[in-house]
Amino acid sequence: MKSKTWIYRQKNDQFVKKARQIGYVNRAAFKLEEIEQKHRIIEKSTEVLELGSSPGGWTQVVVNTNKTVKLTCFDLQDMKIKNDNITFYKLDFLKYNFNNLDKKYDLVLSDIAPNTTGHKSTDHLKISQIVYEIIDRLNIILKINGSFIFKIWKGEEEKEIIKKLKSIFTKVEYFKPKSSRQESSEIFIIAKEFKLNE
Ligand SMILES: C[S@@+](CC[C@H](N)C(=O)[O-])C[C@H]1O[C@@H](n2cnc3c(N)ncnc32)[C@H](O)[C@@H]1O
Repeated sequence: MKSKTWIYRQKNDQFVKKARQIGYVNRAAFKLEEIEQKHRIIEKSTEVLELGSSPGGWTQVVVNTNKTVKLTCFDLQDMKIKNDNITFYKLDFLKYNFNNLDKKYDLVLSDIAPNTTGHKSTDHLKISQIVYEIIDRLNIILKINGSFIFKIWKGEEEKEIIKKLKSIFTKVEYFKPKSSRQESSEIFIIAKEFKLNE
């Protein structure tokens, strides 16, 4: 059941209104839209892997930005978006053997949000663990010179994650989209030009 505060905020949120007007399934789509406006990575990608894709706001941005992209999506929940260029796996990505895909991606996206406890540092550690799990798989999923864009909730592990990323990518940047609520601790990290994860 949604709380009264959540319902009030949704009703009055300009991005929720705008999402409805233009047919986005959620306001999350605007976050990736803003990232793409600045970094122009999706438009140059041929193969994209999206982890935590449901209901499909980011997916809409990817397929609208690049009509020829091949997109592979993973989520525990069903997608609301379907398109001939999308292959969807309703799976926990942690349980999937990515060697089976037999291909690598130009771009790996993660908007994964593990179940929250409400305890900030616990939730930060949970999402950080997910990020480390993805980093561990980069050698088999990401092409050399590829990019990795992901969400994290701010906290103590951030420095270690950035340090690790800087050793395997040439460029690593933070991004807080205008469409991300100011009170939210979420931040996006854009890592470009993958070298190798040694
Ligand atoms: C914030 S939502 C993603 C929203 C999506 N980017 C969009 O624009 O519609 C986070 C998603 O992560 C998914 N998720 C959490 N843990 C996961 C896992 N281990 N494997 C796959 N998906 C996971 C959840 O089911 C949830 O749908």
